[in-house]
Amino acid sequence: MIMSVMKIRFSRRLNFNKLFLNFSTNVKSVNSSESGHYIQICNEKYKTDQFNNLSTSILQKINVKLLKNENHPLTILKSLIEDHFEKNFKNQYMAVDNLLNPVVTAKQNFDDLFIHKNHPGRAPTDTYYINENQLLRTHTSAHQREVLSSKLSDGYLISADVYRRDEIDVSHYPVFHQMEGIKLFSKSNLTEESKIQNSVTKFNIKEEKKGGPIQTCHDLNECDLVVNNLKKSLEGLIKELFKNEDENLQIRWIEAFFPFTSPSWEMEVLFRGKWLELCGCGVIQQEILNKTGNGDKVGWAFGLGLERIAMVLFNIPDIRLFWSQDERFLSQFKKGQITQFQSFSKYPSCYKDISFWLGKNKSDTNVNVHDNEIFDVVRDAAGDLAEDVKLIDEFTHPKTGRKSKCYRINYCSLNRTFTNAEVDEIQNKVKDIMLKRFDIELR
Ligand code: DAH
Repeated sequence: MIMSVMKIRFSRRLNFNKLFLNFSTNVKSVNSSESGHYIQICNEKYKTDQFNNLSTSILQKINVKLLKNENHPLTILKSLIEDHFEKNFKNQYMAVDNLLNPVVTAKQNFDDLFIHKNHPGRAPTDTYYINENQLLRTHTSAHQREVLSSKLSDGYLISADVYRRDEIDVSHYPVFHQMEGIKLFSKSNLTEESKIQNSVTKFNIKEEKKGGPIQTCHDLNECDLVVNNLKKSLEGLIKELFKNEDENLQIRWIEAFFPFTSPSWEMEVLFRGKWLELCGCGVIQQEILNKTGNGDKVGWAFGLGLERIAMVLFNIPDIRLFWSQDERFLSQFKKGQITQFQSFSKYPSCYKDISFWLGKNKSDTNVNVHDNEIFDVVRDAAGDLAEDVKLIDEFTHPKTGRKSKCYRINYCSLNRTFTNAEVDEIQNKVKDIMLKRFDIELR
């Protein structure tokens, strides 16, 4: 997850709509690629500038709202998590979804969370910007302050679509879904409020690392109580979600760094022999609580990726499937049930390479194009037909110093066989857009 420096219902359904009246997720008209124009997202008009890098395919995704379909595997998972928290912590967590605007400010997404100005996650090659100050949220943590300021609850589960410019392969997609959990406790009644039934003692906890420094404003005991509640809450959740798996499910807590929590961890679970990173979490920076009118509280937060968990629980091998409108996919899932995806026939792959010189002239040695820019072009031209894209060759001409790159695109449809001619047509479209957008010469 990008915010880590190392690597990069059931609950009270209070009327959150009141707070977010202006927001609904609707893209009306799109005029994305030019600057100095307006685009309309969520019934709001936004002025674009030279920072605008929204692609057409991304703008179309904002409308889809997968979490509105209760029989979609992501929604099933989201509801299972929400139900788990409601069952075990009655009325303590409020579910927030589909109400928060995916367009946030750089302040909300980064500054408010103490993500420093040079963090790679801020780069336009990683984040979709509308203009210098407005962007598509890259994580649900972007809503921490507005939700905390509402003071509607001491616990929240915020589910939303998040957007990141990323590579193309079976586990990466430029839109995915996260759930942010937040729990606050009164400082004055912390021991009582943070008590948690020890329902997870059978758990095999592999590595328990310290998780970084305790905040100077917290004493050791205060921090321990919050951390204990956080870990037990998440362990209980994982135990519930993975109950059909191994009896001796193993979890480990890896020390992590997030600017908005301290101490911080990443929680991993040993799933079929592989450690799987499930979520980042930690003790909320007190300054965030102080600034949102919660100075008398302490608390924890976590952020988990729904696709990653759904892929393992439902046995879904390719992240593109979540966006499939194919009945053979959608009809397999029913609200409240974790069922194993039965793959329907896989259609043949077709590989096409694209090679180019960076710079139109032999003397152009300083031109570069970021991988994520290439991936966005492929997404725009090929949509979900592109299963993955890899940089397979890169070299610098020994005499001119000019760089050459070659990308291999694997075209594979989830629902039909494509003729070579059709794939060629798409490949030509990719080339055309690349030539228009980048300073390159095709080889
Ligand atoms: N927002 C982080 C990400 O997307 C995940 C995260 C980490 C959320 C720690 C949290 C947290 O609330 O406490 O990488």
